[in-house]
Amino acid sequence: MCSIIGYLGLNEAAPIIVKGLKRMEYRGYDSVGVATFSNDQIMVRKGVGRVIEVNKTVKLEELSGNVGIGHTRWATHGMVTDTNAHPHPSSTGEVAIVHNGIIENHEELKNDLQKNGYSFRSQTDSEVIANLLQYHYDKTRNIKQAIVDTVAVLKGDYAFVAVFEDGTLAAARFHEPLIIGIGKKGYFISSDVLGFVEHADDVIYLDNKEFVIIRPSGIQIFDFEANPVQHQITKVSKEFADVYKGEYAHFTLKEISEQPLTIPKSGDNTKLELDLAADFIRHAKAVYITGSGTSYNSALVAKFLFAKYAKIKIEPIISSEAHFSPDVFEQQSILVALSQSGESADVLEAVKIAQNSGAKIISIVNIMTSSLAQMSSIAVGLGCGPEIGVAATKSFTSQLAILYKIVEKICGGCMGLDLSEVAETVRKELSDDSKSKIKEIAKRLKNVSDIYILGRGIHYPIALESSLKLKELTYIHAEGLPGGELKHGPLALMDSNTHVIMINPDDSTYSDTLTSAREIKARGAKVIGISDKPSDVYDYWIELPRIEESMYPFVEIIPIQLLAYYAAVEKDTDPDYPRNLAKSVTVK
Ligand code: AGP
Repeated sequence: MCSIIGYLGLNEAAPIIVKGLKRMEYRGYDSVGVATFSNDQIMVRKGVGRVIEVNKTVKLEELSGNVGIGHTRWATHGMVTDTNAHPHPSSTGEVAIVHNGIIENHEELKNDLQKNGYSFRSQTDSEVIANLLQYHYDKTRNIKQAIVDTVAVLKGDYAFVAVFEDGTLAAARFHEPLIIGIGKKGYFISSDVLGFVEHADDVIYLDNKEFVIIRPSGIQIFDFEANPVQHQITKVSKEFADVYKGEYAHFTLKEISEQPLTIPKSGDNTKLELDLAADFIRHAKAVYITGSGTSYNSALVAKFLFAKYAKIKIEPIISSEAHFSPDVFEQQSILVALSQSGESADVLEAVKIAQNSGAKIISIVNIMTSSLAQMSSIAVGLGCGPEIGVAATKSFTSQLAILYKIVEKICGGCMGLDLSEVAETVRKELSDDSKSKIKEIAKRLKNVSDIYILGRGIHYPIALESSLKLKELTYIHAEGLPGGELKHGPLALMDSNTHVIMINPDDSTYSDTLTSAREIKARGAKVIGISDKPSDVYDYWIELPRIEESMYPFVEIIPIQLLAYYAAVEKDTDPDYPRNLAKSVTVK
């Protein structure tokens, strides 16, 4: 989603901002822009496209000045156009802003501002912030007061950074992340530490309903009622700096390949929290689990695991649906919230709804400084390092690893969980030999328009996760199905143009799934078997390594991640930044 950044310091602002925006590209965007303050004026350059392209065309980096703001936009209000790209100057040009989030009452505010003589150029909701700040600044010429008056009328979730005509930088946060970086040569403000990590490791996490005013003389933080707020400076984890692709062609491939290392380490930095989480769940009256996308698929795996091994019923809730069934949460219950980013708006909303019903929150989250971690009673860290590729890969297997660890604690070691063995098996799946076999199959998917993925029992959530990976990375229509549902409808779709992936490990689901494969084959569809046992029914066989039965989900998803990645490369789509998607979905 949109990324925002601001800089005030001793160096030229624009090159620092452009670099910061590049680092935050993984969050997803469609246009980019920078504004700097120099020689008593604010200058804006922006355009549609990737940072590197827009920089080439309009020379973002060449804007002069030691103060500036930058933005990558993921369109919500208004088309993807140069004019709708941020920064947005106010109609008099004395203020310019960048914004992340949605201003719900923008139409009403726009009408009022227009009546007062302020004009608008874009179709965005964000532009009202620029003109509103200008309107209040015009009345008092006092930046602090202008911000207090502005945030008092804005409705919706937002974070914005503004540069004023005197070179002051200011930023406000309401339910969207905003982090201040304090470096040796300047101050930073950004939605993500990656925006400034190489320049500053001292950070302040702004809380909700707070704003900051940054001048060369220092920073001042206030709450929305204008009271000064004291904050501790914390150190940002150095691992965030390690976000280069290295030898890999894409972040996605790098992150898939890191799993032999990340799986066994999952949760290691928060061992105490993991023990507490197990204890809370063991004693809870009711347990719910929520997430979006991949994180929801992990929640579905958890349902099977908890029921089978811990003998605990746990109810998965799609985060975006929680709003429509707020009465499900019981008193003294636990909601386990899964999120890589910890900033998914749907997940945060589900958490708020559960908290209002008296539930306690356990989060399983990668970004420990995120809103979700802050809202939780217990936050367990994935510890898999930054995941830049928009498609979740290593965060999925780390979520699984933590859920397995919790179940293992509750059931007193009943699974004989050995994550180092899982890691070694995954390493074999990532060998050059396995990769080249999968690459060959990926080539055949190039012109396929529909893929179905079938799995039964605990393998059904893996089928869903597989279809999500294929959709995101290859743009091929893909659908995960419980194997037994085939004859209740989807069989009508099977013909010689269809490809079906069978997730068919050698366990209690094996023979039923093989029967489904034969039914599909009889209708002329091509069958790709993912199994530890060969069969003549498979047109293509991806061999699963032998592993303890309960660990199958880990080893099933790896070949699909590779297949989706290599098919994306074949189709020449960008695996790291799929069209229309954002890494952190911070709007509802
Ligand atoms: C996964 O490949 C997707 N990019 C997406 O479904 C993602 O899992 C979802 O948006 C949830 O994100 P979160 O884990 O950061 O909350």
